[in-house]
Amino acid sequence: MIEITDLYKTYKTSEGTVEALKGINLKVKKGEIFGVIGFSGAGKSSLIRCINMLEKPTSGSVLVNGVEMTTLKPKELRQARRKIGMIFQHFNLLETATVFENVAVALELSKTPKLEIEKKVNKLLKIVGLEDKIHNYPSQLSGGQKQRVAIARALANDVEVLLCDEATSALDPQTTESILDLLLEINKNLNITILLITHEMNVIKKVCDKVAVIEDGEIIEMDSIVNIFTNPQQPTTRNFIKSIMEEDLPSNLIDKLRKRDRNYKLVRLTFLGCSAAQPILAKIAKDLPLSPNILSGNIIQVKDETLGRLTIELTGNREHINQAIQMLENVGVLTEVIEDGGN
Ligand SMILES: Nc1ncnc2c1ncn2[C@@H]1O[C@H](COP(=O)(O)OP(=O)(O)O)[C@@H](O)[C@H]1O
Ligand SMILES: [Mg+2]
Repeated sequence: MIEITDLYKTYKTSEGTVEALKGINLKVKKGEIFGVIGFSGAGKSSLIRCINMLEKPTSGSVLVNGVEMTTLKPKELRQARRKIGMIFQHFNLLETATVFENVAVALELSKTPKLEIEKKVNKLLKIVGLEDKIHNYPSQLSGGQKQRVAIARALANDVEVLLCDEATSALDPQTTESILDLLLEINKNLNITILLITHEMNVIKKVCDKVAVIEDGEIIEMDSIVNIFTNPQQPTTRNFIKSIMEEDLPSNLIDKLRKRDRNYKLVRLTFLGCSAAQPILAKIAKDLPLSPNILSGNIIQVKDETLGRLTIELTGNREHINQAIQMLENVGVLTEVIEDGGN
C-alpha cells in the first residue's frame, strides 16, 4: 500500500543544511498498522509528511497504492491526497466551526453533494462516538473528543490510508488508550491501512503489526512487533522496550547473592504466552540439582500476543546451570545471561 524507496529529505536553512532523512526504505502492506518510533528530531514528521507531499522529498520514490507521489501535478496530487487521511498531535481543527462543519469541510472540498455530506458526517460521527456533539465547537470539547473529530474529518473521503503524526502525544494515558482502540476499530472494520509515528513505545505495543525504529534520519531496525519485543537488536530499540518493561531486581537479594561463595547466573527469559516458562522451570527443579529462583516477572500484551519476561537466578554447578539454560532454549524460551557470578 505504501512503498518508500531511497527517500532523502534535506532542509536548507540560513544556518546550513539539515539531512532529516537519509535513505529510508520501507513497505506498508494493505490493512497493516505500521509504527515508526524514534526520539524527537529523528525525522519522523519529515518521513510522514513526505508520504502525502506536505514536504517534497529531496530524492527517492514514494508509492501510495501504486501511485508515484513525488511526480504528481498539483491537480493529480489533490486527488491522490483525498485517499490519504492525516491526523496530528494538536488536532488542527477550525476553532470557529462546529464539529459538523469541521468534518464537512473535507467533503465540500471534494465537491460532495449537500445531502450526501449530511448523511456522511452523521455516519462518521457515529463511528468516532460523537453524535451528541455535532453542534459543539472545538473549545467545548476535551482533547480526546477533538482528536475524534479530526479522525472523522480524516476519514471523510473514504480514505485508504491514515497517517498519524504523534496523534496521542497530547493526550493523557486513558484518553490515549481510547483513541488507540478507535484506530484499531477503524483498521479492522473499514480496512484502512495505518502508518503512525510516535515516540511512545506503549502506542506501538498496543496497535502495531510492524515497527521501524528511526534514528538520525535512518531506519536502524525494522521487524514484526513480536520480533522487536522478543529479540531487539539495537541499543535504542532496547531502551524503548525498557521504557515499558522496566524490571528492577531486588538489590538486597542481589547483594546477598554476590557475597556468597557460589556460582550463579542471572538469566532474563523472554517467552510468548503467559504459561510458556512455568512447566520448564518446574522440570529444571526436578531434573537438576538447582532450584530456579524468580527475581522479577512481567507480562505484557503486545498487539494480540502475550509476552512474558522473567529474571531468574540459577545457583549451583556451572555445568548444571548451562544445562538448565539449554533446557529453556530447547522449549523456545529466549535467554540472556545478565550476570555471571561466583568462581
Ligand atoms: N521545515 C524545516 N526546516 C528546517 N529543518 C527542519 C524542518 N523540519 C524539520 N527539520 C529538522 O529535521 C530534523 C528532523 O525533524 P522532524 O522530522 O520534525 O523529527 P521528529 O518528528 O522525529 O521530531 C530535525 O533536525 C529538525 O530540526
Ligand atoms: Mg515530529
